[in-house]
Amino acid sequence: MHKVISEKTNGLVGTLKIPGDKSISHRALILGSVARGTTEIKGLLESEDVLNTAKALQKLGTLIRKTDEGLWIVQSNGPFKQPDSVIDMGNSGTGVRLLMGVLAAYPIRVELTGDASLRSRPMKRITDPLSETGAVFETTNGKLPIVMQGYADDRAFSYTMPVASAQLKSALLLAGLRKKQTTTVYEPVACRDHTERMLKAFGADITVEKNKDNVNVITLRGGNTLKACSVFVPADISSAAFAIVAALITGNSDITVENVGLNPLRTGILDVLLKMGADIRFENKREIAGEPVADLRVRSSSLKGIDVPAETAPSMIDEYPILAIAAAFADGETILRGLSELKVKESDRFRAIIDGLNKNGIECGEIGDDSLQIRGIGKKPCGGGLIESKLDHRIAMSFMVMGMASENPVCIDDISSVATSFPEFISLMNKAGANIHDYCD
Ligand code: S3P
Repeated sequence: MHKVISEKTNGLVGTLKIPGDKSISHRALILGSVARGTTEIKGLLESEDVLNTAKALQKLGTLIRKTDEGLWIVQSNGPFKQPDSVIDMGNSGTGVRLLMGVLAAYPIRVELTGDASLRSRPMKRITDPLSETGAVFETTNGKLPIVMQGYADDRAFSYTMPVASAQLKSALLLAGLRKKQTTTVYEPVACRDHTERMLKAFGADITVEKNKDNVNVITLRGGNTLKACSVFVPADISSAAFAIVAALITGNSDITVENVGLNPLRTGILDVLLKMGADIRFENKREIAGEPVADLRVRSSSLKGIDVPAETAPSMIDEYPILAIAAAFADGETILRGLSELKVKESDRFRAIIDGLNKNGIECGEIGDDSLQIRGIGKKPCGGGLIESKLDHRIAMSFMVMGMASENPVCIDDISSVATSFPEFISLMNKAGANIHDYCD
């Protein structure tokens, strides 16, 4: 257990280099490992989750190395080969679900597991549809550990997404890569489309069109080998969100966060913060390797409470914990609707937000079974709480941000999970003016 205390700061200043996007990093490694040729990745996130995906792919035979200049080079070494031991994906839901997708089409037997958090998360939403393509999954009550036997199926496959999950959508598309026939995914509610964009960049025959019912129809035509390419990974907006909210709620702050990925299906947090009165400016807007990017200048702001509709959830699903912290400092009530998916993340984030805010002097309660009401007080909350992070990096970082602007410091019982997505969080924030340090009791 690595316990820390986050104390009041006099403000955050400077230019922050946030590490690469986690979603894009996993996808770049996986697509690189099934493409013909040599894929070069610039800006790969070197966090535990992504490195676990790299290690898993190496166990399956892929050649992966890092150059002295910091580029990651990925090269297929023929079809995936059966690994000689269990693949442990650590904390990473994206890693394990995307891997199950791509492996479903290889006739090999693979045993997958993860840490206590990952072993508690639902996998049936992935294994059920993948089973329809002939792959066989032995699960532990629908969860990890899982033993899977892939199958080189060549029938056409189509599926309507019952839930807005980019991990599910991506797993199904990856499973379709070796088919000669077509894979069609119907997506009633759009969620992050990094897989579709990257598949296009790797030369896949993939189209996305809306049908008459306004449903996205994603069509991946088979019989096509991916071609290696160069991938640029922008800074992760989900990680940038911690620095952005920290600057907004602390006085005298003025930071610039560089190269932030602004995929329109990821920017819900910025839209909501702007509506709350945040001073965020977009500078140097550009498009790099198929993804929109900008530098964000963020200054201390007086925020007001807001009602966030359920439709916003898919475009900011990982940002609710940090948005809840912004809401605690805002003037007036904030309502966050449609949060059922938060209950199956690295921890039950729905519960973690309520408990964490209540422990730090902010009233927060449930409305129905999937919405939250947060009574913002428009000034510094009392803070002083001890947060149990339960292996959840985003809960740990959100409450460290809360401590930066509360009357009393906020303690986190264990921040080791932060290494899964943002290993340099504490050093980067402290360099900008935060006051987070180890706590020994
Ligand atoms: C991700 C999709 C989301 C998100 C996760 C990353 C991805 O999960 O919460 O952090 O990279 O596809 P769901 O697919 O479960 O919504």
